[in-house]
This record gives sequence, C-alpha cells and structure tokens, in this order.
Amino acid sequence: MNEESPFCAEELRDHWSFPPGLSYLNHGSFGPSPREVLQCRAQWLHQMEQNPMRFYTRTLAPALEQVQEALGRMLGCHGRDVALMENTTAGVNAVVRSLPLEPGDRVVTTDQTYGAVLRLLQQECRRQGAELVVVPVPLPLDDPEQILQAVLQAVDERTRLVLVDHVSSAAALVFPVEEICRRLQDHPTRVFIDGAHGLAMRPVNLDTLGCDYYAATCHKWLSAPFTCGLLWVAPQHQGQVQPAVLSWGHTFPGNIRGWVDEFHWRGTYDPSPALSIPQAIRFLQSVGWERFRRHGHELARMARAELCRLPGVEPLYPDCEDCFGTMVTVRIPPGDALALQHRLGRKHRVEVIVPNWTSDRFLRVSCHLYNTEEDIARLVAALREELG
Ligand SMILES: Cc1ncc(COP(=O)(O)O)c(C=O)c1O
Repeated sequence: MNEESPFCAEELRDHWSFPPGLSYLNHGSFGPSPREVLQCRAQWLHQMEQNPMRFYTRTLAPALEQVQEALGRMLGCHGRDVALMENTTAGVNAVVRSLPLEPGDRVVTTDQTYGAVLRLLQQECRRQGAELVVVPVPLPLDDPEQILQAVLQAVDERTRLVLVDHVSSAAALVFPVEEICRRLQDHPTRVFIDGAHGLAMRPVNLDTLGCDYYAATCHKWLSAPFTCGLLWVAPQHQGQVQPAVLSWGHTFPGNIRGWVDEFHWRGTYDPSPALSIPQAIRFLQSVGWERFRRHGHELARMARAELCRLPGVEPLYPDCEDCFGTMVTVRIPPGDALALQHRLGRKHRVEVIVPNWTSDRFLRVSCHLYNTEEDIARLVAALREELG
C-alpha cells in the first residue's frame, strides 16, 4: 500500500463514470480513464479549439516532449527514445514494415501473439520471402521456463527478429521477457516486445531490459484516453524505423527533435489523448503502482479460484505472479463464445471477453482499481447460470 495515497479503496470506483449495476471486467481490451484524466483531455481540447494555430504550431511540440519525458521516467529510459503513437498496432507496423528481411531469413514468434500482429508478420514475411516460425506455447503451462525454452529452441543463425508478448492477449500469460532478452543478448537477432498489456501492469525498465523495440498501448492498463500508445526503439535502430503512414515528418517547419518527428507529425490529428498521458501516470502513481498491481492481482487470483470451482472450468497456469498479473484467463466448456459474451454483457451486466483462439472456449477477466470482490461474485454467479 502507498502510505501517502490520498485514495481509500471504497472511493476508487467513483473516479470512473460507470453506471450503477455494471461490472466492468474488461479493462484489458478497452480501459476507460478516470475522471481526472478525462478532465485533463478536455482542457487540451479546449486549448486546441480556442486557437488551433497557437496550439498546433507553438504549443504542441514542447507539450509532446513533456509526454515523452514523463513516459521516459516511468519506463526507465530517455524520453527522446519514445515515439508517441496511436496504439500498439501502429508501433508494430512501423517496425515490422521497415525491417529489412531477405529470402531465407527467419522471424520467430509464438502462437500467443495477438491475431492482428500475427497477420502483419505473416504478410511481411510472405512479401519479403522470409520464414515465419510460430512456436506453440504449451497450455496448460506448468512453469514460465517452458515458454523460454520453446522460444530459444526456435532461434537459429538465420533469425532476424523475435517478437513476443510481455503479457499475452487471449491467455493473459506473463512472458519471461527479461530472461528471453538476457539469453538473446549475444545473438544478432533483434527482439521486439509487444507490451500492449505490459505497460503499467508490469514494472518495465527499458534501459536494462535489453530488447530492441517495445510497443505499448496507453489506453489499456495505464488508463490514458483511447487512441494513444508508444513505440520505444533502441538508439541504434532509430534511423531505420519509418511510420506506416508518411506525412511531413522531418520536413515540417519547426524544431527538429530527431527520429520521432516522423511519427509526431503524421498529418493533422487529435493529440489530446497523448497529451493526457502524464495525468494518467500521475493518477496511478498517486494511488501507488504496487497497490494497483496487488489489488488487480488479488482479484484476478480470486476470479481464477472461484471460476475453477464451476464444472468444466480449468486453469491455464499455476497460481503465481510470474504467470499472470491483473488479468487472468480460464478454459470454459465449449460453445458459442460470442453469444456467451453478449449474454453476460446484456443480461447480467457483466462485461468480460470470451476469447476463442483455438477450438476451445476461454474467459478472460481483467481487474483494475475500480473492481471489487462483488464484481467477481457477480461474474461467477452469471457464468454458473449460463453454463447450467
Ligand atoms: C498483445 C496485444 N498486442 C497488440 C494489441 C493491439 O492493441 P491496439 O488495438 O491498442 O493497437 C492488443 C490488443 O488487445 C494486444 O492484446
């Protein structure tokens, strides 16, 4: 617990604008922002609308620099190495589409990789004649060491890129990214960590992690407004990464601040979500990072234990912090995933995601500061009724 936190547990939900009776357990897909963050965004929008010339030509560039610095402090890196993006998808696209691959080169990833990212890797490998190796992650998993071994075994001298999740999407599985980077540090392959769920859920220090690229979405666990994310690129690769959308970039009049200019002037856009990132960081910091992570993890543990008491529901990994953080997935009996997800939302007013990434059916529960034991109890009761 953060001794100095001004927030008491019962009041935390009041920082969000949920209607009464809704149990929102899907922060992992779409993470709503606390009021303080939305107010900050509204102030930026107000400035923008009051005098767009002043805002876009004089205010924006230094304000974005402050956002980079705030993210740099949070992630243990230089702000100048962080480009502000709309989301993880944009960051992954920029890197993968700029990567020079030759026929016979290998790209290694896992079957847990987010579907849209996998699709990009497939397309880019096909276009450049490279081989995509998709390593199966054994589930149920006994030990995260199994992920490490599976990935390392697939890496050979032709491997140019290893792309793994920090926390996987459907299975909510924490990957041993520190160990993967450490074991590959003397290998010429580049390592890309998809940190869409890692940002805020896990502590990150990019200066010591040892990866080449880290992309993340700020509108998930960090709770910044929708449509903002980041791409960190190790200094030696920055000259090579081009945004997927080319605009004025470096040629835009004003201060040249380096490789990020290509990303930060991407045509006229609404930068108010990105400008509110420091407020989102301040909010979680004032609650306490540890308190936030502990609260979410304890509720996720409870959800896992309670759900696994229902007939036919099974865990995917052991009850340990190395395997899952503030989000957990269990296997549930087969059936129509989308129909169940809609019924839980519409009829029971419990919003969760029912991923369906193999022929099996799963249920993923995300727990943020506003969630309580009551939300978990409602989810369990609703699922019990639905599974009969
Ligand atoms: C692991 C992972 N990567 C990438 C993404 C894409 O994130 P975004 O839609 O914010 O680009 C997601 C979204 O859930 C994800 O879970």
